[in-house]
Amino acid sequence: MSVSIKTAREIELMRKAGQLLEQVHDELERFVRPGISTLDIDHYGEKLIRDLGCVPNFLNYNGYPASICVSVNDEVVHGIPNKHHILKDGDIVSLDAGLIYQGYHSDAARTHAVGTISAEARKLIEVTRQSFFEGIKYARAGNHLYEISAAIGAYAESFGYGVVRDLVGHGIGTHLHEDPQIPNFPQKRRGIRLQPGMTLAIEPMINQGRADVAWLDDDWTVVTEDESLSAHYENTVLITDGEPEILTLSR
Ligand code: MF3
Ligand code: CO
Repeated sequence: MSVSIKTAREIELMRKAGQLLEQVHDELERFVRPGISTLDIDHYGEKLIRDLGCVPNFLNYNGYPASICVSVNDEVVHGIPNKHHILKDGDIVSLDAGLIYQGYHSDAARTHAVGTISAEARKLIEVTRQSFFEGIKYARAGNHLYEISAAIGAYAESFGYGVVRDLVGHGIGTHLHEDPQIPNFPQKRRGIRLQPGMTLAIEPMINQGRADVAWLDDDWTVVTEDESLSAHYENTVLITDGEPEILTLSR
């Protein structure tokens, strides 16, 4: 296993890739409302990415057929956009998007409310987001990778939520998925030692019910086995000499 350390020039390009993806997510958030289809989101997102002069990195990745992963309610991740799937008031929708800027990848996910959602759904979204921030408290040079994993998992589980175990975060750079894998739950070992210049996509996937997931027959869409709601939050993060830099979030 080898984890790439980015040079100063590469970090500049990763930063730009992250900033542009943040813009895409901000526009997508404004676009989400009852009555649109999940395919409308994909088409809009792909246009945003291409209009910024970038390339969608998910499209055709291992055969994935869209630019934005759109996962509704009990869909955890990798939902396939469909013109017949119309968002309705009270849904939650996870949008996972990524792009390539001058050869460098960024990857980020957000879960949004569609119209008015239940207090329980809102809490799931908020805890999932906060679990990422609990994790990156440990994203510092000299720490070990699985300190991040343990902090994410402990926080989410303290609310009784199920932390998805079948999918993990990852290194990112000239490829969408690089070493290391980044689980969202405690490990028996402590993992690699973090170094400045590592870029990591940290992405908790948290279920309102049990952690178990299943795959639909499309071989992509991951759903909760108990049909409970699921939320996803992801940013591309740079390890530095001090505080981690969240490349896909500036405010
Ligand atoms: N954030 C997702 C991941 O890291 C990206 C979607 S993978 C794709 O797995 F295959 F759907 F593109
Ligand atoms: Co990712």
